Amino acid sequence: MKSFLAVLVLTSLSAPAFAQDAAKGAELYKQCIVCHGDKGDGNVAQKAPRINGQHDWYIAKQLEDIKAGVTRKNPVMVPIVSKMSEQDFKDLAAYISKLK
Ligand code: HEC
Repeated sequence: MKSFLAVLVLTSLSAPAFAQDAAKGAELYKQCIVCHGDKGDGNVAQKAPRINGQHDWYIAKQLEDIKAGVTRKNPVMVPIVSKMSEQDFKDLAAYISKLK
């Protein structure tokens, strides 16, 4: 019984903070490639920063902030992110954070 509990605790600690679907994120990311590049390396001409390899929670937070437009104003991304949900941001973040 004790070891069973230990396994339960360990798996809940190692589980991601939220449920994400990187495959859905890959599909959504097609709309971002024009500015951020297929590997998330960014694009000087578009003034779009590198976003690959960043923490998933950070990416999702920036997308939420850009959509809200209060603390972070990013007019070029608003038309795209305004149609997306919090779940879309989590899926995108799962995909982008693993890009190299
Ligand atoms: C029209 C070009 C364009 C498109 C399309 C675009 N972005 Fe951006 N993105 C930018 C620019 C420019 C910035 C930096 C703006 C700023 O100074 O805040 C940025 C910033 C970001 C940031 C914040 C990076 C950081 O380090 O804080 C994230 C995350 C991001 N974009 C993700 C995405 C995702 C995901 C998509 C697709 C859903 C997307 N972008 C589509 C141009 C674009």
